[in-house]
Amino acid sequence: MQKLVIDGGVPLEGEIFLHGAKNSALPILAAALLCNGETTLENCPRLTDVFAACRILTHLGGRCTIQEHTVTVQVRALRSDTIPEALMQEMRSSIIFLGAVLGRAGTCHVSYPGGCELGPRPIDMHLEALRQMGARFSVCGGQLDCTVPDGLHGAVIHLPFPSVGATENVLLAAVLAKGETVLHNAAREPEICDLAAFLRKCGAKISGEGESTIRIEGTERLHGCVHAIMPDRIAGITYLGAAAITGGTLCLKGTDAQPMENMLPTLEQMGCRLYPEPDRLHLLAPRRLRAVPFLRTMPHPGFPTDAQAIFMAMLSLADGVSVLEENIFENRYRHVDALVKMGARIHVSGRTAVVAGVRALSGAAVSATDLRGGAAMVLAGLAAQGRTEVRQISHIDRGYETMELVLRSVGAQIVRKDVPSEGLLRI
Ligand code: EPZ
Repeated sequence: MQKLVIDGGVPLEGEIFLHGAKNSALPILAAALLCNGETTLENCPRLTDVFAACRILTHLGGRCTIQEHTVTVQVRALRSDTIPEALMQEMRSSIIFLGAVLGRAGTCHVSYPGGCELGPRPIDMHLEALRQMGARFSVCGGQLDCTVPDGLHGAVIHLPFPSVGATENVLLAAVLAKGETVLHNAAREPEICDLAAFLRKCGAKISGEGESTIRIEGTERLHGCVHAIMPDRIAGITYLGAAAITGGTLCLKGTDAQPMENMLPTLEQMGCRLYPEPDRLHLLAPRRLRAVPFLRTMPHPGFPTDAQAIFMAMLSLADGVSVLEENIFENRYRHVDALVKMGARIHVSGRTAVVAGVRALSGAAVSATDLRGGAAMVLAGLAAQGRTEVRQISHIDRGYETMELVLRSVGAQIVRKDVPSEGLLRI
């Protein structure tokens, strides 16, 4: 196990190059299963979740090579239609392989994905949508067995909620299905658009992505392509937040403002000045951030749930009281206890968190609870007085490439250290 040790109070200043988006790379790696031939993904982030997805691809019969930020996938034929539990458990979003394996093999066997730190992660919408396309499921002993007796066929599907994962699974199942699929109430996240752009390069017939209705005309076969993964908008807002919370300045390169356009107005409302350019974005933080009266998370284009913890860390030090409302996940306030331990004044009631900004936070020993909650603790540690230790940083490594090296490059006093295992201490 490892931890991040942070000595806070240093205003960040400098340039950061933003890595590719985890939440785009993962569904696109699953989509590579559908392609005959070689697929090259550029700007692919070096993250534990991406490496886990490559292991699933390899198990299924793909050949993955990772060189720096380029992943090449070669799929000639599937070797298996089964994803073993160990691989399924390595990352929560492995369920997005279901649509791709069904689309390619017509059968799929996966362990039923469990919940995660964000609460139960049901897949009812995924299964109901795929059932309408001809899939049949049985669950036995935690194993989900899927078949498509008459092959996958197009359908008119209405998602009860614009689920990102369910939208991705429908896209992956529909591109090789017979006939047209019309998906209503589809998720509109930018990562869905990136997936659709990738599939279109491979020969898929897709229109409407980014809007609530997506149309997919099934084709016979898909070929490989070369595709650059879009920038990671959540990692981007995380690093902008690191400069904002420390009263610093940052030039974020490798992206323009567009992927973060539903978060930047809130940063400006908090007193940050932003200067967008075609391939970079500058941020100038105020001496002290201002509170935001009300911030609710919503499906895209609303304020993203993945940014909630990041903004809560910033608002913990803002001048005034902010009210946050988490409307996407049931259990996405697990970072609050750690922020309170560092001196934040936060009260949670159901989906609502009231944050009364304080003048200063104090460093403390905390443990990351989930990916974005862990990032929020790092941001709080960067601004806190004294030393903060963030443990369980495997959560953070799922979504941020060597966060400590990136932050150190702009002046943060942060190092990664090994944590001796409990067993050794007993000896
Ligand atoms: C994706 O998760 C992202 N993960 C999440 O990012 C992100 O927070 C989420 O979308 C919302 O934007 C990846 O893309 C790998 P959902 P996903 O299906 O697809 C409920 C991060 O930090 N639901 O849109 O799992 C579900 O329980 C991660 O990078 C059902 O009830 O999200 C949740 O409450 C965390 N039944 C809500 O919908 C279903 O069948 C949104 O889930 C599916 C979802």
